[in-house]
Amino acid sequence: MQGKRILLGITGGIAAYKIAFLIRMLKKSGAVVRTIMTPASCDFISPLVVSTLSGNPVGIEFWNKQTGVWTNHVEYGLWADVLVIAPLTASTLAKMANGNSDNLLLATYLSMKCPTIVAPAMDLDMYKHPAVKRNLLQLEDDHVLVIPAESGELASGLEGEGRMAEPETIHDAVAAFFKKNKSGRLQGRKVLITAGPTYEAIDPVRFIGNHSSGKMGFEIAKAFLAEGAEVLLVAGPTHQSLVHHRLQQIDVVSAEEMFQAVKSHWESCSIGVFAAAVADYAPKVVATSKLKKSDTDPTIELVKNPDILAWAGANKSKDQYLVGFALETENLVQNGLVKLKKKNLNFIVLNTLADEGAGFSVDTNKITILDECNKQTEFELSSKFKAAENIVEYLINSIQ
Ligand code: CTP
Repeated sequence: MQGKRILLGITGGIAAYKIAFLIRMLKKSGAVVRTIMTPASCDFISPLVVSTLSGNPVGIEFWNKQTGVWTNHVEYGLWADVLVIAPLTASTLAKMANGNSDNLLLATYLSMKCPTIVAPAMDLDMYKHPAVKRNLLQLEDDHVLVIPAESGELASGLEGEGRMAEPETIHDAVAAFFKKNKSGRLQGRKVLITAGPTYEAIDPVRFIGNHSSGKMGFEIAKAFLAEGAEVLLVAGPTHQSLVHHRLQQIDVVSAEEMFQAVKSHWESCSIGVFAAAVADYAPKVVATSKLKKSDTDPTIELVKNPDILAWAGANKSKDQYLVGFALETENLVQNGLVKLKKKNLNFIVLNTLADEGAGFSVDTNKITILDECNKQTEFELSSKFKAAENIVEYLINSIQ
């Protein structure tokens, strides 16, 4: 952490007193620490303690009431390598999740150019309240790294989950963040990702499609980019968008177009993650002009689309690594295992519509990974970005 610039935000929870220890640890590890305190946090730890330990003045208000000088929150955002907010109260969490900016810390959070890490702390009933859970998922979706609260004795005298992670744990999470960011563990790797639905034309205005939003595939692309990989994203019709200097996006509409794009590029990639919800069938004949209503019920003859993932599996070299998805409504693991073998995959990501919070139209996902050695790893319900990070982490550990 030598020379790393850490902006530490402190909010008004009893765990604020432990931040004195965190500042000392960060400084001992060589970091430069600046701090912003919410006005409420000053009741829990004195700004004098914070400024003395950090060796820098503390930001509290938008402007200094004695001098009349404005505090430049944008400058904080440009200065820092990471923003760490600890403890994070339910109130600041809710404001962050909604883009509220009614104090210096929140305005700075909204101006940040670097990643944010938070360590929530609150009473057990607050921590398990659906509104708090929703807000934490929103933060994860906004790419904030959440260090989960721990179980133990709480200031209220109750016991349970809600205690801020210990200063040592927060320190180690910040150190791990810098280590990971530095290494970019997939630098030099090219990844092919398929995302979104495919639309199979019936006539010039109608198509057969599905409800896939493409979000999971785009979040996987982001997680690979964060690890330094070069990403080729073949995307069906979607409202998602992503811009990055290491990203090349090829937009397609039908399964056949997706297949052609994959065929042209698979050989040049070392990793493939196929998250697209490809239509299995397409109309045999596409009408060249709009079909008119008639008195008889029409019939559309369908023909099978190419299985793009199976093709990539059949054309996989020993140096290539291939991951597929399976959305099942029953016999999740048995069906997943069949697809894993049939399509020659290294692992398959299973999800079922039966799990609350998983599926096409939601921002969360609950995944299970099944690998070629038949090992099954279940993950908790999380934001789609967190699920994507879990997939990339699993892959990195498998290829090492
Ligand atoms: N897939 C593909 N091309 C297809 C169909 C599926 O590349 N024509 C890929 C998907 O991107 C996903 C995996 O195969 O990674 C599993 O897709 P799924 O539709 O769940 O499986 P199918 O093999 O089509 O079987 P079924 O629809 O009968 O469950």
